[in-house]
Amino acid sequence: MASTLSRTLRIASVAGVRAGIRVASARAPVFGFAFAQKSAVRAFSVSRAIFDEQPRLRLGSPAPNFKAETTHGPIDFHEFIGDSWTILFSHPADFTPVCTTELGAFAQLEDEFSKRNTKLIGLSANGLDSHEKWIEDIEEAATNGSKVGFPIIADPERKVAFLYDMVDHQDLTNIDTKGIAFTIRAVFIIDPNKKIRLTMLYPASTGRNTAEVLRVLDSLQTGDKAGVTTPINWIPGEDVIVPPSVSNEAAAAKFGDFRAVKPYLRYTKYPADLLKK
Ligand code: BEZ
Repeated sequence: MASTLSRTLRIASVAGVRAGIRVASARAPVFGFAFAQKSAVRAFSVSRAIFDEQPRLRLGSPAPNFKAETTHGPIDFHEFIGDSWTILFSHPADFTPVCTTELGAFAQLEDEFSKRNTKLIGLSANGLDSHEKWIEDIEEAATNGSKVGFPIIADPERKVAFLYDMVDHQDLTNIDTKGIAFTIRAVFIIDPNKKIRLTMLYPASTGRNTAEVLRVLDSLQTGDKAGVTTPINWIPGEDVIVPPSVSNEAAAAKFGDFRAVKPYLRYTKYPADLLKK
């Protein structure tokens, strides 16, 4: 762990110096060179300090708390989550094409998430004024008439992006004009106990799939309520799996019929009754 971290920091550090040189070569005077080098080093000192404090986030880890400005006002993230499930999803920057389509798609599905006691919250690495203007564009171009009803976090200094490790290895060498790494496309599903239940990390080039986010949420909620797991490509209504930790006797008592394809692979019907409780 320590060696990976120090290696990554070394890479970030080299990238910072390289960035200084790159910016400097566009501004010919020697003063420009020194200035660019200094600001790149300063930006990387800030990034590195945040990086040092970044907790290791695993499935089951507590979702780190933070305070942030959002398009719905300031929030304390844990207070925002409250007793709901929460989908936190990040974007590299405002006014970018793929992100615009993604926010439009989440806006159109907001009712589906609400039905599942789930709040949406986006994040993009720009300030509030920019977010407000971008939302106008999104509603004009990408929501099919829906409003963007959820908050978007303003994270221009990438504080939350670092806290949640939403920058990738390559992006540490792919810095913007301020010498800060891009925020990548991440999705976190956080449960009402404020535990991270799913992470998805996408490259900047690839839009996410909102149907998949909803599908995983359905699987997690079904699993929590009914004590089952779900097979490949499962969608609600289809047969589920009886986990290996449940004996045949206990499975019969809980689910009634089940079908053993192998002793360790047992299916039972979608547990509609258990989900109503
Ligand atoms: C986008 O299309 O969302 C995008 C484009 C360039 C950089 C980051 C994001």
